[in-house]
Amino acid sequence: MRMGSPVESHGAGPLARGLRPGTAALPTTATTYDMTSSTFGRMFSVANFGESHGPAIGCLIDGCPPGMELSEVDIQGELDRRKPGTSRHVSQRREADLVEILSGVYQGRTTGTPIALLIRNQDQRSSDYEDLVDSFRPGHADYTYWRKYGLRDPRGGGRSSARLTAPMVAAGAVARKWLRLQYGTSIRGHLQQLGDVVIPFEDWDEVGRNPFFAPNHSVVARLEQYMDELRKAGDSCGARVRVCAQSVPVGLGAPLAAKLDADIAGAMMAINAVKAVEIGSGFDVVTQRGSEHGDEMTPQGFLTNHAGGVLGGISTGQDIEVSIALKPTSSIRLPRRSVNRSLQPVTVATQGRHDPCVGIRATPIAEAMLALVLVDHALLHRAQNADVEFDVPPLPARAP
Ligand SMILES: Cc1cc2nc3c(=O)[nH]c(=O)nc-3n(C[C@H](O)[C@H](O)[C@H](O)COP(=O)(O)O)c2cc1C
Repeated sequence: MRMGSPVESHGAGPLARGLRPGTAALPTTATTYDMTSSTFGRMFSVANFGESHGPAIGCLIDGCPPGMELSEVDIQGELDRRKPGTSRHVSQRREADLVEILSGVYQGRTTGTPIALLIRNQDQRSSDYEDLVDSFRPGHADYTYWRKYGLRDPRGGGRSSARLTAPMVAAGAVARKWLRLQYGTSIRGHLQQLGDVVIPFEDWDEVGRNPFFAPNHSVVARLEQYMDELRKAGDSCGARVRVCAQSVPVGLGAPLAAKLDADIAGAMMAINAVKAVEIGSGFDVVTQRGSEHGDEMTPQGFLTNHAGGVLGGISTGQDIEVSIALKPTSSIRLPRRSVNRSLQPVTVATQGRHDPCVGIRATPIAEAMLALVLVDHALLHRAQNADVEFDVPPLPARAP
């Protein structure tokens, strides 16, 4: 948790339906510390705000180093990769997702002061959610939000909507640019599996040529057919996405509470619908032997990368290899049993515009989250270890 400056909080009454009178009352002038649940990062921090159907969403980046050339063009391309409505296989909500830089850039360069990024919501259709004001979608966050806060914004899922990943993608674009300029780091991802269809990796260049982020042209027709059948059936499916960072400097991360792999896992789990994260060999380590798993080193470099680029919570300089599993979309047309706010039985069949497989649009989001963790750790490493010197260069990431 970040320790912020003390703030004053004033007495609050039972503002919301569902809060018992008296239980919400706070001391009139209590000194509290920042307990934000919307801010990622320690040195390159990103505070996310907004709701799916509010006027706008966005973020405030604090800690971006000064002097980097930055304009909307650097960010827009990444938002365009994530936005809905780009094919029949994703949500048909039409959002341009145009980003505006409101602060922190002067004469085309970052000033080192907070960068505010704004994305206006344009295509809200809140009437689609009227049936959900009182009932809870199985598998969605409706029940937990209601039970935690005593009230919730049901329009488009409110704050639980994956629309809030757009500001993360925008901030991630800033992070990626800095990492690329500083270390030549590149971060790429692709779809690895959609429902039952495994997608063998063939070519990074193919990823941008199809609506699935699939790295293999030969499976695209099968994916199209799979999604068309799924949509017709009114159902949804899960997916697996791989994300990989190359040219990452050795030394990012720190023992115990600032492990790089722990922060990567946390950032990935913060993406909506992610239920599992693997780093390097992931769950395959269960059946590997030590004689296979431990990545051998030669003077020419590492021979393998089962570790996924992290040892002891610190980057090895090898590629950071992460894959994530995303669950099937919970908003489906097929009727499901649930309850309403009186805990009476109801049947929920979700209408409206939804992603039948949320994993299809997750690739740019996972890339952005990885970039945000890496930039944060790069700045932390620079702050503590800039003076550490070696008389030999780092071991090459991979032996030729
Ligand atoms: C890119 C993306 C798009 C999503 N679109 C939808 C959607 O259209 N309908 C839906 O029910 N869930 C969608 N989700 C997932 C929900 O936001 C998520 O399941 C919900 O907030 C509950 O959180 P949890 O699954 O992380 O527990 C999407 C997730 C991602 C990553």
